[in-house]
Amino acid sequence: MDLGLADRTIVVTGGSSGVGLATVRALLDEGARVATCGRDADRLAKAAAGLGAGSDRLLTGVCDVRDADAVRDFTARTADAFGGIDGLVNNAGQSRMKGLDDSTADDWRDELELKFAGVLNPLQAARPHLAASGAAGVVNINAVLAKQPETRLITTSAARAGILNLSKSLSVELAGDGIRVNSVCLGLVDTGQWTRRHAAADSGLTYEEWQAELAEDRGIALGRLGRAEEVAYAVVALLSPRASYITGTSIDVCGGVGRSIL
Ligand SMILES: NC(=O)c1ccc[n+]([C@@H]2O[C@H](COP(=O)([O-])OP(=O)(O)OC[C@H]3O[C@@H](n4cnc5c(N)ncnc54)[C@H](OP(=O)(O)O)[C@@H]3O)[C@@H](O)[C@H]2O)c1
Repeated sequence: MDLGLADRTIVVTGGSSGVGLATVRALLDEGARVATCGRDADRLAKAAAGLGAGSDRLLTGVCDVRDADAVRDFTARTADAFGGIDGLVNNAGQSRMKGLDDSTADDWRDELELKFAGVLNPLQAARPHLAASGAAGVVNINAVLAKQPETRLITTSAARAGILNLSKSLSVELAGDGIRVNSVCLGLVDTGQWTRRHAAADSGLTYEEWQAELAEDRGIALGRLGRAEEVAYAVVALLSPRASYITGTSIDVCGGVGRSIL
C-alpha cells in the first residue's frame, strides 16, 4: 500500500538513537524528507551517516527540545530547506528511574519541563507550516506509564499522563487547522535507554539474560522487549495521510505489558 508519505517533510525530534532513529529510517524508506535533532552533535552525525540519505532528503540540527529558540531555528531551517512541514514526531527524551522518596523538587521540575517542552516547543514552531500542509499529522511518543503508573518511575509516570491528556486537547484545538494529533504508547523497547541501564546495573548477566529477566519481571505478554522499528511502523501509519480520520487517540506498542483497556 502506498502510504502517501513520498516527498512529504516530517520532523522527528531525537532521531540520533533508538525509536527516533528507527522512525527516521522508516520515513526515508517511504520516500519522505526528514529533519531530525539531538543534543550530541557527534551522535547525530554518526546516525545521519549511517542512513545514507543525501541533504535533499535528510537535514539534521543540534538542539535541545527544551530550548524554544533553538527549536524555532531548527524548524525554520527545515521549512526553508524542504519548502514546508507535513508532520511532526515528538520523540526526544528519556525516563527518570526514581520513586517518591528519592525524587527532589529539581527532578519534578526537570521531568515536567522535558516532557511538556518536548511537545510544545516543536509543535509551536511547526504549527504554521503544519496548518499549511493540508495533510498534517503529529505523533507524540508516550509510554503505557501514562495509563498504568509505576511508582519506581513516579515523575515520569505523572508527566506521561499529563502529555496524554494534553495530546487529546491538542487534537481538538488543532483539528480546525487540519492537523491530526495522536500518541504512541510504548512498553519496554530495546534502545539506548535499556543498554545504559544494563551497564549501570552491573548484574553480571549478559544483556540478553538481563532482558529476559526484565521481560519476566514486568509481565510482558510477548515475553521480550520491543524493537525500535516495531514502534516506527505504528508512527509511520499514524503520520500517513491514509490515517486521515484518526485523531485524538493512542496506540499501545508494548507487547501486551499494558493492562489498561481504555
Ligand atoms: N525505550 C523504551 O523502553 C521507552 C519506553 C517508554 C517511552 N520511551 C520514550 O521514547 C522516546 C525515545 O526513547 P528511546 O528509548 O529511543 O531513547 P534513546 O535511544 O536514548 O534516544 C533518545 C533520543 O532523544 C534525544 N534526546 C534526548 N533528550 C533530548 C533533548 N532534551 N533534546 C533533544 N534531543 C534529545 C537523544 O539524543 P541526545 O542524547 O544526543 O540529545 C536520542 O536521539 C523517549 O521520549 C522515551 O522516553 C521509551
